[in-house]
Amino acid sequence: MRIFLDTANIEQIRQSVAWGVVSGVTTNPTLVAIEGRHDYKAVIREICGIVDGPVSAEVTAEGVDEMLKQASDIASWHKNVAVKIPCTPDGFEVTSKLAKEGVNVNMTLCFSANQALLAAIAGAAYVSPFVGRLDDAGHDGMALVKDIMDIYKEYDFDTELIAASIRHPLHCVAAAKAGADIATVPFKVLEQMMKHPFTDAGQARFIADWRKVSGK
Ligand code: G3P
Repeated sequence: MRIFLDTANIEQIRQSVAWGVVSGVTTNPTLVAIEGRHDYKAVIREICGIVDGPVSAEVTAEGVDEMLKQASDIASWHKNVAVKIPCTPDGFEVTSKLAKEGVNVNMTLCFSANQALLAAIAGAAYVSPFVGRLDDAGHDGMALVKDIMDIYKEYDFDTELIAASIRHPLHCVAAAKAGADIATVPFKVLEQMMKHPFTDAGQARFIADWRKVSGK
């Protein structure tokens, strides 16, 4: 399973890429707003200059024609851009048209196996089930990831599953066990995945003991 960072924060992306564990980035309008940035195109281009992998940027227009227009513009920002399109009726139409033009689409706001099935049929490069938001509503978000993976394997779909709306490290373990292609995680979760109190305690002890041995 690959790890993408779910953020529009440039410093977090730089650090994660330096760690060598992140191979893509997903953004959405909320994440850009959190950073107080208004220049979406500049943000996405900056991110594409840091990470050598897919960078998802969301279409915010409504109606098929406007969505197609905005999606084509976004796709022209950088060769690594994947255009995020919602799992709505218009979104499926837009996705099927963009896919025929060779545009990589990440179908977002996916909350059901049927939406994921249609995303694959429409030709989306990625589908993003929102695990945490389903959990928040009292559903089993990871069960959806498993269902989608079962369906995609059954029919050899090329669409990759991005487990999104990840809230904690156990979500990542479960996504990996379910066979998700990618988990897109907030920076805080990536840090939590790396850390373990026993590692810190063990390392402190090794350093202290080595100081005694070496007399330094
Ligand atoms: O990028 C989409 C998704 O990961 C959003 O997560 O935490 O807002 O549900 P969240």
